[in-house]
Amino acid sequence: MASSQPSISKNIIVSGGARGIGRALARYFLEAGHRVYIFDISEEELTYTTKTHLKKCYEDGKVNSAVCDLRNVKEIRAKVSEAAKFFDNSIDVLVNNASIASPYWKDGKTMEDADTFDEWKAYIDTNLTSAFAMSQACIPFMKFRQSDADDGAHRIHGAGPCIIHIGSFRAHTSDPNQEGYAASKAGQLGLMQAMSISLGHLGIRTNLVAPGRIKVAHECKEGDEKGQDWAGQVSEKDVDDHPTNRAGRPKDIADACLYLIEAGFVNGVGVLDIFVCVKLTSPQARYNRRWRSAEEEELDRFLGASRYACGRATEIWDRFYGHKESCWHVSEP
Ligand SMILES: NC(=O)c1ccc[n+]([C@@H]2O[C@H](COP(=O)([O-])OP(=O)(O)OC[C@H]3O[C@@H](n4cnc5c(N)ncnc54)[C@H](O)[C@@H]3O)[C@@H](O)[C@H]2O)c1
Repeated sequence: MASSQPSISKNIIVSGGARGIGRALARYFLEAGHRVYIFDISEEELTYTTKTHLKKCYEDGKVNSAVCDLRNVKEIRAKVSEAAKFFDNSIDVLVNNASIASPYWKDGKTMEDADTFDEWKAYIDTNLTSAFAMSQACIPFMKFRQSDADDGAHRIHGAGPCIIHIGSFRAHTSDPNQEGYAASKAGQLGLMQAMSISLGHLGIRTNLVAPGRIKVAHECKEGDEKGQDWAGQVSEKDVDDHPTNRAGRPKDIADACLYLIEAGFVNGVGVLDIFVCVKLTSPQARYNRRWRSAEEEELDRFLGASRYACGRATEIWDRFYGHKESCWHVSEP
């Protein structure tokens, strides 16, 4: 465990944290000194993660978990109440990470196949509706206390509570036969933006982290038992696909979340779209790339022509390109 502890330990719910990115998020949050409550549908994997993988933290009362089907809103509400009890009725951070994470229709189907309609509903329910329902259930335990509102303390101290949706670069860049996944992830962007506007007055910030390709097959019970690690999964293609010259690590997503948790003036953005410009190789992706290039040129002309436009750069870059380094530029109007 890391020795440097944050000045204030936060109470964090991670959905879909039994395996994959969610498991890594839980572990890194604990290492950073926070307390964590994990939701997942997979009982065996969740028990292993909580009581074996995170054994020490479990024994110290820093982590707990609940089996929850995130497509069932009643279950969500009941389990969020349980988590709130574990956290003494105060939730600081919700990370909506759970998803059907495989982007393609099953068994090589296309949307011409009528059977994909049920899969469509599963994507939307699991990836998008659950993020709304989880957020809704957590809000009463997240918003600032009236006493803090009365004396303005919520505007002065700390970063305040926040909700982070784990999206995907697929919101912007689909390959063929990914309509359900891509639409659910694009929906998360709209949800994030709307929530940031609606919840701001409660002191709750909402942001989104959109991973690129992150190697996570080792983040599970079987991976631990077989002694698998991140490096063992990385192929040359994973390196070639990313201009960072390496494949994505689960820690990259944790770093982004830890930044957002403490970034008290960041609200309503997917600035940390960290797919860092996955290079596009499929015919469809090359077509998309051409379209984006035209937009890009237009935007460059617009920004070049107008100093005033600089103040809006983050929003515009984010909307169209998400991944652009320009998101990080702080420009004066
Ligand atoms: N790994 C990547 O390359 C990548 C890329 C882009 C985006 N993402 C996003 O990151 C997040 C995590 O992805 P991952 O690769 O770790 O996926 P994963 O499949 O390894 O983990 C997803 C977790 O969500 C849980 N889950 C699924 N349906 C659920 C339900 N109905 N109720 C409760 N829990 C449920 C699963 O049991 C699992 O533990 C997802 O939102 C995914 O879309 C991942």
